[in-house]
Amino acid sequence: MASDAELIYEGKAKKLYKGQQAGTLVQYFKDDATAFNAQKKDTITGKGILNNLISSHLFPAVGEMGIPHHFIDRLSPREQLVKSVEIIPLEIIIRNTAAGSICARLGMEEGSRLDHTLVEFCLKDDALGDPVIATEHIRLMGLASDDELDQIVDYSLRINDFLSGLFFAIGIRLVDFKLEFGRYQQDGDDIVILADELSPDNCRLWDISTDEKMDKDRFRRDLGGLIEAYSEIARRLGLEIPDITAS
Ligand code: TMP
Repeated sequence: MASDAELIYEGKAKKLYKGQQAGTLVQYFKDDATAFNAQKKDTITGKGILNNLISSHLFPAVGEMGIPHHFIDRLSPREQLVKSVEIIPLEIIIRNTAAGSICARLGMEEGSRLDHTLVEFCLKDDALGDPVIATEHIRLMGLASDDELDQIVDYSLRINDFLSGLFFAIGIRLVDFKLEFGRYQQDGDDIVILADELSPDNCRLWDISTDEKMDKDRFRRDLGGLIEAYSEIARRLGLEIPDITAS
């Protein structure tokens, strides 16, 4: 990243710099990996490059089916230009198959198919451990309006249908994933648009024939082979993989 660019925010896996044009940011993908609210940490060389590559492919695809989003362009192996938004402090979790925290929380068996797609909300607050919250809490805390929430759920389900099909076509089951949305000013109106990233860091992706995990669970569960798995996702998506050792 150009050394003179102003750092706006540093998260666990990404940094945001001020873009050259007003209303834009440069989203920089780090190699840092964290899990369990950053109690587990490591650096995995090349992860950021692969996530930038995959996310830069999936955002325009989602945009093609009418979902507004923050992505503008992939600038370099680790950077993308995005629209600056006011992040709505919610993590939207969409689940097709039981895995991860819902199994621990509700005693579901990992791998069991859910009768219908489940949309859960978590409060985006690391200090509180991103707790699951109900729509009543969201209303009470004024985190999003009812119209914004309706829009978020509608977009999330449409993204799920689209991505489930896209991954199915390349032999991958979209088990669950996390989305974040932001408010963006367009023609004087505040609209809700998709932000953050779409990558194996925030999706669970299992090979359809073997159930092999091809996502960040390889790190969370010490399975190894994360770079190989993310590279395989990129390869199946038809993407040309850049030199992942680039800094
Ligand atoms: P969970 O089963 O741990 O709640 O995760 C559900 C999905 O959300 C999974 O695909 C991983 C993703 N996720 C994130 O992207 N960031 C997070 O901080 C957490 C907890 C989950």
